Formats: sequence, structure tokens, C-alpha cells
Amino acid sequence: MMKQVRIGMIGVSGRGRIAELWHEPSGRSMIVGGADINERHLQDFKKDINPEAFITTDYRELLERQDIDAIAVTSPDYCHEEHAIAALQAGKHVFCEKPLAITVEGCDRILQAHKESGKQLMVGFNMRYMNMFRTMKEIVDSGAIGEIKAVWVRHFVGHGGDYYYHDWHANSRNTTSMLLQKGSHDIDIIHWITGQYTKKVAAFGSLDFFGGNKPNDLTCPTCDQRQICTEAQFETRTQCAFRQEIDVEDNSMMIMELEGGIKASYLQCHFTPDYHRNYTFIGTEGRIENSQPDNKVYVQTRRSNSYRELADRTYEIKHAEGGHSGADPGIFEDFIRMIVDGKAPLATPVAGRMSVAAGVAATESIRSGGQVVEVKPLDPQLL
Ligand SMILES: NC(=O)c1ccc[n+]([C@@H]2O[C@H](COP(=O)([O-])OP(=O)(O)OC[C@H]3O[C@@H](n4cnc5c(N)ncnc54)[C@H](O)[C@@H]3O)[C@@H](O)[C@H]2O)c1
Repeated sequence: MMKQVRIGMIGVSGRGRIAELWHEPSGRSMIVGGADINERHLQDFKKDINPEAFITTDYRELLERQDIDAIAVTSPDYCHEEHAIAALQAGKHVFCEKPLAITVEGCDRILQAHKESGKQLMVGFNMRYMNMFRTMKEIVDSGAIGEIKAVWVRHFVGHGGDYYYHDWHANSRNTTSMLLQKGSHDIDIIHWITGQYTKKVAAFGSLDFFGGNKPNDLTCPTCDQRQICTEAQFETRTQCAFRQEIDVEDNSMMIMELEGGIKASYLQCHFTPDYHRNYTFIGTEGRIENSQPDNKVYVQTRRSNSYRELADRTYEIKHAEGGHSGADPGIFEDFIRMIVDGKAPLATPVAGRMSVAAGVAATESIRSGGQVVEVKPLDPQLL
């Protein structure tokens, strides 16, 4: 009989709603429990996902349950280290949302616990499952643009004010920085498609739009500027986006040198009108670039003494159903396949650690005037 994976969630609201995709009582996975510090979120989870689910405000009670095979850590970034390590030590497989942790040391402690546990650990790098980035990876792996030498990535975060500056994300003690929080995806895609990790970085950044001198306890519904403020939000995430405590840069630029001498640059800006990611990879035989607004990947080839120079190609990226352009159903299915069928995940825990390590180094560079910072190498014992 096919095994069914029984899953418990830590952090049931927000990203924790991915539980819906795993809950298939007659299928390969089922949500059987949830832990959260917010009682209302737990009640909604029970009502909407599984009325039979075990719920608790103490995640350790969830981990004690013998009827749970796997834990999904969808709590805020600053909780990942504690929750993932405790779950691995309790003998559970773990799905941990990105970023793996908010420090390199925290990531390394997770890798250590993973190694000792003998259980499976997957990082929530769902961008690796998007048709667009899979296509770009395939083109590069086919050799069509030769050996990659340069990468240029721009992330226009049109929803910066909606998702990042109205709650815990905007405080460095919770996230370290947006380069690490939001950028962990992009740094990972750069690592994945080039096949190389970052060795050293330099970066500049500042708070150019959000933050300011409003009181920390001000919320949009009670603010006398709410009718005229462009950032006002009234449902979830309602803390003022111009409050004093905000200290994570909203405009950052990072240059990176990867293994093999590849040069890469990454811009992340949180106050653009549009929301998309523009990637280009330049190799010895050509260049590829994506356009999310047009749903296309463009391949241009140069003189290469091969058939490739005969034509440039444009790929039309197919639509995929489901959250994050179809990436969410893909990664959650892969989590189950990893546990049941032993399928290797697209993103390893080490990849999770290396993207955090590059983000941490860039943050250190920004906050010390833009100097070059080496990325902390991985202890080979953690491999
Ligand atoms: N891969 C992706 O596409 C993607 C998308 C969104 C969010 N995320 C990640 O998911 C995580 C959660 O983000 P979010 O926006 O849903 O956050 P959130 O603030 O909505 O919190 C999620 C849940 O965690 C609960 N929670 C808070 N502190 C807790 C604690 N100490 N113990 C247990 N539960 C706790 C909250 O009550 C909430 O129900 C973040 O790490 C974020 O980076 C990933």
C-alpha cells in the first residue's frame, strides 16, 4: 500500500495556508496537526483545513506526537532555526520555508541537526519549480550559451509596502535584511543556474522610501493620514510602514564573485510600480534573458562555430496552475516524493545555507560602507 505522509504545521496562517495543498485524506499526504502562537489562526486552520486536526499553542506538543511523520515550518524567519532543529531532533522530516535561518551560524546548526537526525530536510525554494526558471536552467545546462561568465538580476518588488514594511519583516532583528529575506530566492536561483556558489560580495543599500519617524505602535486603521497615505492597509499587516523601528534597507545593490570567477549583480528595490524579476545570464556563446511581464525567455547566440549561431530563439513559457506560477504544487509534491520515493529535492539544505551566507555577507558590506566581504565557507563536515 502506498504510504501516506502525515504532516504537522508550525505557523498555520499566512504561508501556513499551503497546508491546503498537502491535505488529501485519500491521497499521499494529510495535515493532522498545527501549532501557532495565535489561537485565532489555530481555530481558522482547524475549520478550513481539517476539523479533526490536533492544535496547540506549544509546538513541542506537536513534535511529541507519534502519528506525525513530517513538519512544515512556516513560522516567521526568526523562528526557523528553533523550529527546524526541534523537529529534526524529534525524528520528523522537515519542510522549512526560506530563508533557512537568519544567520549563517543558525543555518549551520540546522545542517548539523539534519545530519544527526537521518531525516529529510527541504528548503522552500519554490522559484526552482517555476516554469520560467526551469526553462532558463535547461537552456544553460544544454550549453546553448556556453560557459556563464556574467549574471545580472533586477528584482522589482512592487509589493514592498504590502508585504514587507507593515510587520515583523521590516526589523533587522527578525530578518537580518531584505537581501537575505526576499533575496534568498534570487541568490539561490543565481547559484542554481550557474552551478556555483558566491565567494565574495560588496553591496550598497539604504532605506529610501519606507521607515521614518512615525511611532512604532501606530497602525493604519487608527492613523489620521489613512485617507491620503499611499501605503495604508486595513486588513492584515497594518503597522505603519513609516515607523521608527524600521531598519531593513528597501533599496539594495549587491555585486558578487562566484566560484569560477563568475561576476553577478543583484538589485532589489521595494518601491517600484511593477512586480517582477528580470534575469540575464551571459556565457561565452550567448546570452539569455527573461521577461516575466511577457512570459518569455530570449536566447541570443554569438559566433560559436556551431549550429547554434544559425538562429536566436524565443521561448514562450507555458502557464502552470497553482500558487507562485505553479511552483507551489510542484514543490509540495516533491516534498512528499522525497519522503515516500526517496526522490532527491531540487534544492539541498546546503543551497539554503549558501544563499543565507551570501545575503549575510552583503548585509555586512552594506552596513560597513560597501567593503568587500568574504562569504563564510561551509564546513565540509556539514555536507
Ligand atoms: N517561498 C515562498 O514563496 C514564501 C511565501 C511567503 C512566505 N514565505 C516564508 O514563510 C514564512 C512565514 O511568512 P508569513 O508571511 O506567512 O508570516 P506570518 O507573519 O503570516 O506568520 C505565519 C504564521 O506563523 C505564526 N507564528 C508567529 N510566530 C510564531 C511562533 N513563535 N511559533 C509558532 N507560530 C508562529 C503566525 O501566527 C502565523 O500564523 C517566512 O519565513 C517567509 O519567508 C515563503
